Amino acid sequence: MEFNLKTSHPVKLRSACLIIAVSEPRKLSTTGQIVDKASKGSLLKIIRRGDMDGRSGQSLLLHNLPGIRADRVLLIGCGKDGDMNETAFIKTIGNMSAALENCGASEAHAYITDIPVKGRDVRWKVQQTVLKMSHCQYRFEQLKSNSSDKKKALRKLTMNVPGKRDLAAGESAIEQGIAISAGISIARDLGNLPSNICTPSYIAKQATALAKGQKKLKVTVLEEADMRKLKMGSLLSVSAGSRQPAKLITLQYQGGNKKDQPVVLVGKGVTFDTGGISLKPGAAMDEMKFDMCGAASVIGTISAVVAMNLPINLVGIIPTTENMPDGLATKPGDIVTSMSGQTIEILNTDAEGRLILCDALTYAEKFKPRCVIDIATLTGACIVALGKIPSAVLGNHPALIKDLIQSGNQIEDRLWELPLWDEYQEQLKSNFADMANIGGRDAGTITAACFLSRFTKKYKWAHLDIAGTAWKSGEAKGSTGRPVSLLTQFIINQT
Ligand code: BES
Ligand code: MN
Ligand code: ZN
Repeated sequence: MEFNLKTSHPVKLRSACLIIAVSEPRKLSTTGQIVDKASKGSLLKIIRRGDMDGRSGQSLLLHNLPGIRADRVLLIGCGKDGDMNETAFIKTIGNMSAALENCGASEAHAYITDIPVKGRDVRWKVQQTVLKMSHCQYRFEQLKSNSSDKKKALRKLTMNVPGKRDLAAGESAIEQGIAISAGISIARDLGNLPSNICTPSYIAKQATALAKGQKKLKVTVLEEADMRKLKMGSLLSVSAGSRQPAKLITLQYQGGNKKDQPVVLVGKGVTFDTGGISLKPGAAMDEMKFDMCGAASVIGTISAVVAMNLPINLVGIIPTTENMPDGLATKPGDIVTSMSGQTIEILNTDAEGRLILCDALTYAEKFKPRCVIDIATLTGACIVALGKIPSAVLGNHPALIKDLIQSGNQIEDRLWELPLWDEYQEQLKSNFADMANIGGRDAGTITAACFLSRFTKKYKWAHLDIAGTAWKSGEAKGSTGRPVSLLTQFIINQT
């Protein structure tokens, strides 16, 4: 979809559809009032008949309004003025997208900046509109014989901005919005693909394809034999039960000077998590195809950074494998040696994410990172603690955590910090090895992070648990692409 900016007068404007905000009760936006005047009060007359009072979720499509040149006028309910916050704005854009989908216009002109959001400028509104519209228009239909028959789809959205001075900021917001949306789309596709297609080899192939023809992007793929040489006993213990070979993918983007220390992203890429010998119960097990969404978010973020040609060095590390039960699979009680030399008693083979991440985190040291962020669908406990609104963040460097939280707030892809206090480390005690891979029932998200913290002592590190945010269950089942926008915003802020 194409996005544009304009500053135009709503009455003179030729467009297939003019979009106007209405707030409660029956209050027209500034643009709405101008249009109403030009149409000799017919807009207010229609509203007063009771078809539209401005509630959030409402929309009303009008044809042939007198006095203006646009073919249609779409009224979008915004709720009460005072109630309009970031979440409500994004919801309103979602409603606008749905209403547009049901009308025949292939092009529309939206007066979005009429919608007041406290503390947010034109630039923010433009970017959020691009992100939300792209999100709503995303379809995953490559595995359906017949794609859903849409009416003539919207091809172009023009956003009106108040003045010419808003154009520069708006244009850069669109550019970034498009790059981030494309990254989100890549991440969602990878997440939504089933595990019989999206195997570790498939992810390696996609990463390689992303780097093809990109001078600044290099990819390397380590095979299991290479990992054995590097003594990645922990990672290999997870792939032991799988017929699909594990891969360790590294994407290196050099947008900065050769000597600049890179930001390193490490993404969990378990293409299917059965639990292994500690087999998961059957209900909703299909959703464990999403257990590679951390890896997908790394690929999506790198693709956005490449598209924006950002002046920074960035490394993506993706340990990817299946977690399967098998005659050769790792069994509870087995003890393995990680690349760091620390030994791990695997008391539960379903706590496999941390087992592949710990070796990838040790491997990250070789890039002399300025900071390392790992992203993982790591614990069901994260959903119990925080639900599906924020991702969890924990780490060893308060300033890094603060920057990540702030980036998330900036682009509406939010984080909430959990404490990584030393007292929790006790839960990982093992009678037979340096540590156990699980910490009991209490504070599951924190003890998982405690486990990782033992492999990240040499650099600034933060861990994002995206178990609650990477995908949706139920009717809207599918991957969300989170936290690509947060990570991309964080990297933009570093430049
Ligand atoms: N991939 C799961 C975490 C998960 C579960 C994410 C449900 C989203 C929804 C992870 O590998 C796992 O199985 N974690 C275990 C850890 C436990 C054995 C300590 C869990 O959360 O139950
Ligand atoms: Mn698991
Ligand atoms: Zn898992």
